[in-house]
Amino acid sequence: MGISILAIESSCDETSAAVCVDGKILSNIIAEQKVHEQYGGVVPELASRAHMQHIIPVVDKALKDAGYGIQDINAIAFTQSPGLIGSLLVGAEFAKSLALSLNKPLIAVHHMQAHVLANLIDDPKPSFPFLCLTVSGGHTQIVLCNSPTDLKVIGETIDDAAGEAFDKSAKLLGLPYPGGPLIDKLAKDGDPLRFKFPEPNIPDLNFSFSGLKTSILYFLRNAGKSNLYKEEFAASEEEREQFIKENLPDICASIQERIITILLNKLKKASLETGINDMCIAGGVSANSGLRKAFLQMGKKYHWNTFIPAFEYCTDNAGMIAITGYYKYLAGQFADLSVTSSARAEW
Ligand code: KG4
Ligand code: ZN
Repeated sequence: MGISILAIESSCDETSAAVCVDGKILSNIIAEQKVHEQYGGVVPELASRAHMQHIIPVVDKALKDAGYGIQDINAIAFTQSPGLIGSLLVGAEFAKSLALSLNKPLIAVHHMQAHVLANLIDDPKPSFPFLCLTVSGGHTQIVLCNSPTDLKVIGETIDDAAGEAFDKSAKLLGLPYPGGPLIDKLAKDGDPLRFKFPEPNIPDLNFSFSGLKTSILYFLRNAGKSNLYKEEFAASEEEREQFIKENLPDICASIQERIITILLNKLKKASLETGINDMCIAGGVSANSGLRKAFLQMGKKYHWNTFIPAFEYCTDNAGMIAITGYYKYLAGQFADLSVTSSARAEW
């Protein structure tokens, strides 16, 4: 028997547990929380309560599917930060209780680092150093990964995250939460070049999505006539609704196209500046089919070695916490039982 890690992820609205043995994921159970859909976003209090309900059955199933008993596990890994504090606490306290009662080592994992290391789950794997564009609901980062335990953020968003740009755009279009996957689906039947949204002029390797959000707001307010504030184009509510109804796939495709070009132009800049050609994407937004396709195309053009995690390891999951826990185990990076959760965390 090799090194076995039980991992728990509860940073937002997915309760997940996974078992990893010698870097191979044997199980990855994810319980989604549908309760938030009716509120148009994650309600923290409801998320914590749902984690309380799901955590025991999810851990139980992860162990059973892996064919492991809790006593066979070598260490317990959990998401320490960042995330919703009430959600993080449920997973952290559960992991700490297990570690204490079983007398097993505890491993604290940074959720965003785990998104990056999801690229180390399946073969082929990137070689070090590699760059990773990590795009999720709360973060947008370019990460330089020198080793599994040496990761450095070299660019990040100064306002909204890419996932927020998708979700907020969807909200403006009257689509339910989370809107990212819906925009992806609708964009498949649309023309990405039909409507033009601006690309922000942000220095370095940083990103900004708030200007895009404002331009979409005005674009819809003006029923497509302009994406600037123009009083003369302000449309009535009926006109706006009609415009959205008639052009939804093209609007979604055009918004998605702009988000993708903002992301990939920075990634290209990061590759040129660092000379690194092993390139990864990660995080919930890396499930976007348009981004995946454009990333692979860009990789071909610039002779990159490109890597994307399997779908189940893109959005929040404990498999990525398990693989990170495994590498931290090998590096001897264990946490004390007094470790606390943190909503915002230093890298
Ligand atoms: O990584 P993740 O599951 O959770 C966070 O750590 O935030 O990312 C969630 C984000 C949401 O904003 C969601 O709309 C977005 O990922 N997302 C997508 C797609 N699937 C999930 N965005 C665009 N296209 C998708 N297919
Ligand atoms: Zn995430």
